[in-house]
Amino acid sequence: MRGGMMNILLIGSGGREHALAWRLSAGRLCDTLFIMPGNPGTARCGVNIPGNPLDAGEVLRAAREHTVELVVFGPEAPLTAGVSDVLEQNGIRVFGPSRAAAALEGSKSFTKDLCREFGIPTAGYRVFQADEEEDALAYVRGMGAPIVIKADGLAAGKGVVVAATVAEAEGAVKSMLGGAFGNAGATVVIEECLIGEEVSFFVLSDGETALPFGSAQDHKRAFDNDEGPNTGGMGAYSPVSVVDADMERRILDDIIRPTLAGMRARGTPFKGALFAGLMLTADGPKLIEYNVRFGDPECQVLMRRLTSDLSELLWAAACGTLAAAEVELSQQTALVVVLASKGYPGAYAKGSVIAGLDEAEAVDDVVVFHSGTALDANGALTAAGGRVLSVTGLGSDIREARARAYEAVANIRWPEGFCRSDIGRRELERPRGKAGSR
Ligand code: AMP
Ligand code: GLY
Repeated sequence: MRGGMMNILLIGSGGREHALAWRLSAGRLCDTLFIMPGNPGTARCGVNIPGNPLDAGEVLRAAREHTVELVVFGPEAPLTAGVSDVLEQNGIRVFGPSRAAAALEGSKSFTKDLCREFGIPTAGYRVFQADEEEDALAYVRGMGAPIVIKADGLAAGKGVVVAATVAEAEGAVKSMLGGAFGNAGATVVIEECLIGEEVSFFVLSDGETALPFGSAQDHKRAFDNDEGPNTGGMGAYSPVSVVDADMERRILDDIIRPTLAGMRARGTPFKGALFAGLMLTADGPKLIEYNVRFGDPECQVLMRRLTSDLSELLWAAACGTLAAAEVELSQQTALVVVLASKGYPGAYAKGSVIAGLDEAEAVDDVVVFHSGTALDANGALTAAGGRVLSVTGLGSDIREARARAYEAVANIRWPEGFCRSDIGRRELERPRGKAGSR
């Protein structure tokens, strides 16, 4: 026991959760940190406990058994399943939205309708149901390409087609309404294709107050030069220089605050980490989508930059006292390179041995977070997922952060893995950023 003030339970098992565990366990409020189910990296920060995060009864029993006062959610699935509601009904504070507020991520048409009602800038769109295929196809032909077709529900990031031609768009409509994504595709959203720089922006909210938590840029494609299939994210960096103080103000005033006000007005205030996927278009920032959690791997770089106490911030968000809190981020740049199993995001083998992590972490200002790892019977570290390690470097600018991260990657001995070699390239190629980016 560390002598902090409360036990905290963190839900999840990826690199995002290792980064959260790393900061939470160092927090002033944290006595013992429990992680359900966690991974070998989170085990260095607290106590991993088995359990199914989607089973509200199991999470509640674990929270009671370990006298947990705060439950922090990493991923979205337990939130859209309503696990946070059950905990709150039983008097346990949670960091993460209710099931109703998690619809900001769980349903694209919910978010689009909210944008329309509250004047939040986003791509023009229309929603079609399974029995409206002919109307949907006619709409696509009328709008022309490029055009974006999305399955309405959670489809593990695979439910979006940015179609370059009308024929491709028609094919996507037919396959989604035809059941390719099961229920997630029973409704499709067809929207205008936005052109510009794509960035992620994060805020903490207690339902009322929004505290900016910085910008990041993800690298979604599997291979260099943004080629290959979409993944959960192969790397990221923060801050993004195009999100300067003025852009941050526009994002907060035009997008984030009206969203939070709209959620309050509907009686479902949003509490937790709100992750806005944005396109910075010639007409200003526009919302692509919301997620109701930190991004993975964006969280890993935000945690490297955070200088405030994460336990205090998440407790304040859970208790509705964020107005008195402040998120302090270092002006340094953090960059993460994800090491993934060869074959990811398709099929890949598990169980290969990974060596060299100590040498990687011996590089100045490098921390390696575990994404999908396991210990084998001999205690050796092995690959157990698609994304396996998140290698983060911190530096005075993107050049230094990137050099450190890649020097660390070179020290890791894992022939069965791969990574992108161009994380941060867009930022490096940009004219020097203005001071004060977030
Ligand atoms: P989503 O799952 O909504 O984040 O979409 C996945 C990716 O598709 C986004 O990260 C964007 O790169 C792209 N995308 C989604 N919607 C649009 C849009 N309206 N215009 C341009 N690109 C989009
Ligand atoms: N890296 C994108 C996400 O977490 O959704």
